[in-house]
Amino acid sequence: MNALGTALLQFWKSSIGKKLIVAVTGILLVGFLVAHMVGNMLVYQGQEDLNKYAYFLHHFLHGWGIWLFRLGLIGAFALHIVATIALTRQNKEARNTRYAHEETVQAPRSSRIMIWSGLTVLGFVIFHILHFTIPVHPDLQGLKDPNDAKMVDVYTMVVRGFQNPLVVLFYIVAISLLCSHLMHGISSLFQTLGLRSEKTRLLIKRVGVGLALVLWLGFISIPVVVVMGALGDGSQEKPKPAMSAPASSSLDVTKS
Ligand code: HEM
Repeated sequence: MNALGTALLQFWKSSIGKKLIVAVTGILLVGFLVAHMVGNMLVYQGQEDLNKYAYFLHHFLHGWGIWLFRLGLIGAFALHIVATIALTRQNKEARNTRYAHEETVQAPRSSRIMIWSGLTVLGFVIFHILHFTIPVHPDLQGLKDPNDAKMVDVYTMVVRGFQNPLVVLFYIVAISLLCSHLMHGISSLFQTLGLRSEKTRLLIKRVGVGLALVLWLGFISIPVVVVMGALGDGSQEKPKPAMSAPASSSLDVTKS
């Protein structure tokens, strides 16, 4: 093995190396969540804005952008999970050696909660991708923007996707677990990066809780608002006269 390979292997084998990988990939994933939540807020601006935004995401850099982004996201997600599992095993082995004669050796409560909330997030992401990215439900497939057929009607897909209260409940539970994972994760990543001291501990805790709360409210608001019927079904919205209807059309309100 060459020098770089040996150094990388040493880095991976060390506990601090894996902690750094968990922390850095965690930062990238939180960055994705913030961007995704902000982008999703366009649903409140209406069908046209959300669909244009989705169209942009799928077409920037001639369609390569989204695939580069997906590769980065999958890589960060996979490394985050693999490094966490390896770290948990390493810690358990260390504890087992230390307390070889104790009958039950348990991981700390917070790290067990982190593992279970993390696994729920993984399950949620798989469900979510089958829900919206590669919609498997026939009602959510092949939707086209009523004003511009080259664009996917993501707005109507989201509104239709949250008509079932059980689906909404699942989103609420999964996103709540995700946010509890973040509350703990954000402050421990500051510790891993050596940025947490007695002085900054409280501030960092507040930042973690605040960010998790903003993400929770932002994400949860969409299924809740939709299931309450407070967001119009885009497919029933009238197309804008200037864009879609000829001057003589009955939709041209200026003529009536
Ligand atoms: C309830 C709030 C949410 C809504 C309304 C929502 C909406 C969407 C929509 C519409 C897409 C498909 C975009 C497209 O293909 O044009 C999508 C993709 C995705 N969402 Fe969400 N999302 C929500 C929450 C989340 C959460 C909490 C996570 C992470 C845990 C997440 C992770 C993803 C991922 C990984 C993709 C695939 C991105 C890609 O196309 O590569 N979403 N979401």
